[in-house]
Amino acid sequence: MLAEPTEISSGTATLLEYDPTASLGKSDAGNLIIAGDNLVALKWLLEDYATAIRMIYIDPPYNTGKRFTFRDNFITASDGKSSSAEAGSHDVWWNFIFSRLHASRELLAEDGVIFVSIDDNEVHNLRRMMDQIFGGSNFVATMIRQSGIAPRQDARFIAVQHDYVVCYAKDSKKMKLNRKPSELKGFVHEDEYADVRGRYRLNKLDRGSIRYSESLDYPIEAPDGTEVWPGGNPEDKKWTWRWSKNKVEWGRENGFIVFKKSRDGKNSVYFKEYEHVDNKAQPRIRTNPYPSIIRGAPNEKGNRELNALFKSRVFDYPKPVALLKILLKMATDKNSVVLDFFAGAGSTGHAVWELNNEDGGSRKFILVQIDEPVQEENIALDFPTVADICIERVRRAAALFDPSQKGGHQDLGFRVYRALARQSA
Ligand SMILES: C[S@@+](CC[C@H](N)C(=O)[O-])C[C@H]1O[C@@H](n2cnc3c(N)ncnc32)[C@H](O)[C@@H]1O
Repeated sequence: MLAEPTEISSGTATLLEYDPTASLGKSDAGNLIIAGDNLVALKWLLEDYATAIRMIYIDPPYNTGKRFTFRDNFITASDGKSSSAEAGSHDVWWNFIFSRLHASRELLAEDGVIFVSIDDNEVHNLRRMMDQIFGGSNFVATMIRQSGIAPRQDARFIAVQHDYVVCYAKDSKKMKLNRKPSELKGFVHEDEYADVRGRYRLNKLDRGSIRYSESLDYPIEAPDGTEVWPGGNPEDKKWTWRWSKNKVEWGRENGFIVFKKSRDGKNSVYFKEYEHVDNKAQPRIRTNPYPSIIRGAPNEKGNRELNALFKSRVFDYPKPVALLKILLKMATDKNSVVLDFFAGAGSTGHAVWELNNEDGGSRKFILVQIDEPVQEENIALDFPTVADICIERVRRAAALFDPSQKGGHQDLGFRVYRALARQSA
């Protein structure tokens, strides 16, 4: 890891210079913001962070051709000539992204994953490109994010309200993705095992099943001495117990089985489902796979968050912290290093701190944002480059977390490095 707050060098040429004035907090802060071209930055980072990054998130220019705070138009080739041909514009975008994605792969840990936000302009090209760089077998999923709440009335036929998050693993066999902790519903009862097993809910032990099994159709003796049959009727060959005879014996001995009498005096048998153990009394964390549709993190939210921090609009389409938190929960543990090399207004840094604050983590971030001039004059007066917006956003985000409160353990500082020399793609 980078320890010294001096310069990062590559060969004889000094390429990045530490900027103590723009940095925040202790000089050994593990979080970095690099103000410069990401291709150059990725190559520098390789010296210290090869295979050290658990999660990369990028939100590159989508190539919409529109005018934002930052350049989102790759119709002009790097030689400055305008290409009116459709394919030309995609080619320029392709070359620009390809070289950077290629360089970033080396930084990913063997169990790491990369997420790329993208929309319909380039998603098809991005998939092909990532297949080439990461290998088709390392494709994990293309998730769909609801990007807009209100359908745009100026759309001709279909108002597009989504974009994508494409996910690849460095190596799908080694990748570590977390599952989503379940929302526990109905666990309202408590018994003498609550300390270890948590609360429980009751489920009926019998079920009407098209797959009848004789071995699961047997009488259970209730505490009052009566026999209870699945479905209440020994003749009914559609009902069975869910558990075998032996398992029910074990369940009775270990407090898993409950008998309930209905008004007509008949017994029913239930089993307890606990919060923290499975039905063999072994510890278990209840989880579900993450869904491929991401809701609750639209652009409106990202705009609101950033406007609240700056008291005015300073950047177009910052991603909401909520989106980044979902991805961080999926792909990191509490000590992971996270890289975003199209950092924009620094949402990833903000999200890393917010999640650390919530779960006691010590994740670190590395943000790279080019020092391109801000396209709008009134914003450029305060923030001449997009990198200035990024640095200021993360500085303002730090002030949201009270170091004396929960989550105060974490490093709310960052070191800024500035590129001195440029290297073209
Ligand atoms: C879509 S925005 C990212 C927004 C960001 N995810 C956020 O939430 O604020 C893309 C960003 O990539 C930056 N960018 C474009 N080319 C770059 C390069 N070569 N190196 C670093 N950043 C670059 C742009 O300036 C822009 O800020």
